[in-house]
Amino acid sequence: GSIGKDGYRHYMEKELHEHPLVIGQTLQRMVDPASRRVILPDLPFNLAEVPRAVITACGSAFFAGMIGRYWLEEIARLPVDIDVASEMRYRNPPLTEGSVGLLISQSGETADTLAALRSLRQKAIHIVSVLNVEHSTMARESDVVLGTVAGPEISVASTKAFTAQLTVLACFAIATARARGKLDVLAEEHLVSALLDLPSRAAEVFNQTDAIRAMAQVVVEARDVLYLGRGSMFPVAMEGALKLKEISYIHAEAYAAGEMKHGPISLIDRTVPIVATAPSNALFEKTLSNLQEAKARGGRLLVFTDTKGAERVSAIAEQMVVLPHVHDFVAPILQTIPVQMLAYEVAVMKGTDVDQPRNLAKSVTVE
Ligand code: G6P
Repeated sequence: GSIGKDGYRHYMEKELHEHPLVIGQTLQRMVDPASRRVILPDLPFNLAEVPRAVITACGSAFFAGMIGRYWLEEIARLPVDIDVASEMRYRNPPLTEGSVGLLISQSGETADTLAALRSLRQKAIHIVSVLNVEHSTMARESDVVLGTVAGPEISVASTKAFTAQLTVLACFAIATARARGKLDVLAEEHLVSALLDLPSRAAEVFNQTDAIRAMAQVVVEARDVLYLGRGSMFPVAMEGALKLKEISYIHAEAYAAGEMKHGPISLIDRTVPIVATAPSNALFEKTLSNLQEAKARGGRLLVFTDTKGAERVSAIAEQMVVLPHVHDFVAPILQTIPVQMLAYEVAVMKGTDVDQPRNLAKSVTVE
């Protein structure tokens, strides 16, 4: 049957509010409740012997893949190559046989991602697809499907499928780390606990709706917006900039905060707001000093942080949104939610067609 909006203004708003639920459902599929350990479906290859990973996807799913790369490198110490599928399919990169290919797609039908899947398969890469539609073309052509349990996503701009993709990728990184002998039982328990804690922490993000709307009042007046983040928060910034462009038609660009001084800093003045994602992690101080540089040039700072970072951020930011402090490993999942909400609130203020933005399609099945 048809799916309603359940009293929300748009499907996108409804789906944003489903983040806690879909993270929980996806974890139920991937974590054994008794042992609190990650479980993967049977793999037709030995994860311990995989020499490298190659990740590819389009749109938001690609940014999920970028966060997946940080996790695989950091906890599993696995070398990762990553590119958007429209490049990967023609790049002809030298790949090591027996590597794992992680293909990420909500629909499982995106033409470029499917073509990349086929080209990796020809190179004897094991195809592990992270898919929301489990009866899709990509599902049929994969060795293994890791399902994101997000349910149907109607809004063209992806929201809940993205956090579900991240949840699956985090679990896959944990399983890979364990298989490679990089994670002992205690360390795994620690990471899994942080994941299991996420649905409740994600529900708390909605207490910040007013603060997000206050940020949106600034963004809605802008013609250009600069999004900044470092480390795993850089792809979160990219996701935020993409969402803003897609549904509010305001130009946004995401930059690794440390790279800003090599270019975009010349754009900064009062008319170009800076949206930064800066929870109190290992790169917090570095990010803050980049933000100081922007502020010194007249930049207006709109900052997403957490309870531990709030005091430092409040000293420099014009607006801030304070999220619960969570383990660094899962912070990109939590920090994505308010960044997507900001784009939504700006689009609503502008009165755009939020669920069906012009020129975009939910699933792009042509090249
Ligand atoms: C379209 C949508 C994006 C989505 C991308 C990839 O461009 O507008 O929201 O991220 O396709 O779609 P997929 O189904 O492969 O995740």
